Amino acid sequence: MTEATQDTSFDYTLDERQRSMLDAMGIKMWLPEPEAEAAPQVAAQAPLQAVSTENSEQKQPIAGMNTAQPAIEKIAPISSTAVPMPASIALAPRPSGIEQMDWPTLQSTVSGCQACSLCASRKNTVFGVGQAPADNTQTPQVDWLIIGEAPGENEDIQGEPFVGQAGKLLDNMLAAMKLGINGAGLTRSQGVYIANVLKCRPPANRNPSLEEVAMCEPYLARQIELLRPKIILAMGKFAILSLTGSNDPVGKLRGRVHTLKHASYQAPVIVTYHPAYLLRNLPDKAKAWADLLLAMQTYRELQAGDSSAV
Ligand code: URA
Repeated sequence: MTEATQDTSFDYTLDERQRSMLDAMGIKMWLPEPEAEAAPQVAAQAPLQAVSTENSEQKQPIAGMNTAQPAIEKIAPISSTAVPMPASIALAPRPSGIEQMDWPTLQSTVSGCQACSLCASRKNTVFGVGQAPADNTQTPQVDWLIIGEAPGENEDIQGEPFVGQAGKLLDNMLAAMKLGINGAGLTRSQGVYIANVLKCRPPANRNPSLEEVAMCEPYLARQIELLRPKIILAMGKFAILSLTGSNDPVGKLRGRVHTLKHASYQAPVIVTYHPAYLLRNLPDKAKAWADLLLAMQTYRELQAGDSSAV
């Protein structure tokens, strides 16, 4: 993995507008308190510490969020053990030529994929969702690509990523990123594309295996090549693994800008916690907010670079 170690020493003093972004994520600002664990680079520089409102005021900014849930991170190591194959499935080799496919061909190839055992239990493949394509290439034109792990039950049923509780939090996170016209937040249908590492649901929402990640990877790589996003947000360890090649914990990787491991296209990668993890670990929303700030700053710098180059 190559990692650009860019300077992230930006000012964390928040103005009114930024405070309202935090509010949209359900985070309230407090005066500094010592951090319990070793803080990553950006969090250590924050003059104010953001603390989730749920902890302090019993407020639930997201419908259905259960604050009584224990804060347990799903930290099972990434498994390289082959997942047993049901005897009755006929697998077919993953189609060749993915790296030349256009968007519609890629999408239909994914929907017919039978390259691993997940095809037997899925109801739908989940290719992605985002801004509607504006030209005849049928490829959405977006600046932001958000990558999660794999479809869950609801996503499997609806064929769309992040439609459950984690998706609601993701939508709030996007809404807090006031990068649109007149300070509008991002939405999943404007300037954004959302996809997963795996296009099929692992049964019972188990972790993906390394083999499944590798099998699905060319589809994601081609999506990235076609979308050509300006910036990528990798949420959770499987997205980080697939995009950067690093198996390190999110807490160790966040707070700096990474590069894509794919050689054919480059874009900065910002890593952060998976929204499902944040639902179980509410105080870490403050760290996710710091990650979004880094993402927004990186994006603005790219924009500024683009306009000065014209
Ligand atoms: N979690 C993910 O990583 N992706 C989804 O689409 C839904 C939940």
